[in-house]
Amino acid sequence: MKKIKKVVFPVAGLGTRFLPTTKASPKEMLPIVDKPLIQYAAEEAVASGIKELIFIIGRTKNVIMDHFDSAPELENELIAKNKKNLLKLVQKIVPKNIDCFFVRQNKPSGLGHAIHCAKNIVNNEPFAVILADDLIMSQKPCLKQLMDIHYEKESTVLALEKIKKSESNKYGIVEYHSKNKDLYRIKSIVEKPSPNTAKSNLAVVGRYIFTPEIFTKIEKVKPGNGKEIQITDAIADLMKNQSIHGHIFEGKRFDCGSKLGYLQATIEYALEHDELSRKFRNYLKKLKI
Ligand code: G1P
Repeated sequence: MKKIKKVVFPVAGLGTRFLPTTKASPKEMLPIVDKPLIQYAAEEAVASGIKELIFIIGRTKNVIMDHFDSAPELENELIAKNKKNLLKLVQKIVPKNIDCFFVRQNKPSGLGHAIHCAKNIVNNEPFAVILADDLIMSQKPCLKQLMDIHYEKESTVLALEKIKKSESNKYGIVEYHSKNKDLYRIKSIVEKPSPNTAKSNLAVVGRYIFTPEIFTKIEKVKPGNGKEIQITDAIADLMKNQSIHGHIFEGKRFDCGSKLGYLQATIEYALEHDELSRKFRNYLKKLKI
């Protein structure tokens, strides 16, 4: 059984739901309290045992590369001013035993295409994918929950959440053969069906474990709406050769690609924040909304 050591972060999307902020800044660099979304995603991966972080970036996303690189001017300044805590904060963004790789996707051509850009770095191994705008707060990292299922079932594993059926047109929606508690054996998957055609209210959210067979399946996908190569279509094809599992993860997800989800995450993470929690809670109480 091969250990999962690599995670792919597709961060090449345009982030149009957050314009004008995302005109020149990547949506993945939006801060939740004091850390950008992409750093939460990297921390979840590292806490799950991942050793290699692979970022699929677009033309306007170089700042993500800078965020995960060293910053000699800043670090020297912090050393000179003896600001040890801040120095530690900056230097621990990439822990010592972790490697980062960056691949440029030359045009946004869908999630399937972005994941395929990692093929040569992933090689012939199972790997994880995290979509950073789905921020998940949980006891056990959501990715680790999926990895443990993969080690047991040796299959592709998708994170699932029960949604309101009226929102099915925002997600990949699955139908299942059978279920055991929170684990489902998936029968079909459709990208963003309308509420009246959706087969269930089980939506795929931004965490996946793939076996390397997914790459050949992505190569066969015909571009759909807007010429995008959907990962959902590759998963649907993979289902013919492999059993695929979905897991309703333990935790709470915030859709930080939407303004409301972003605000909700900001409030809940601030309420959990070591320095801010008490003062912020008191502030909210005084608002008497
Ligand atoms: C993508 C996937 C979709 C999945 C969603 C989770 O859609 O294509 O299947 O349900 O992420 O957030 P996007 O949000 O990029 O439109």
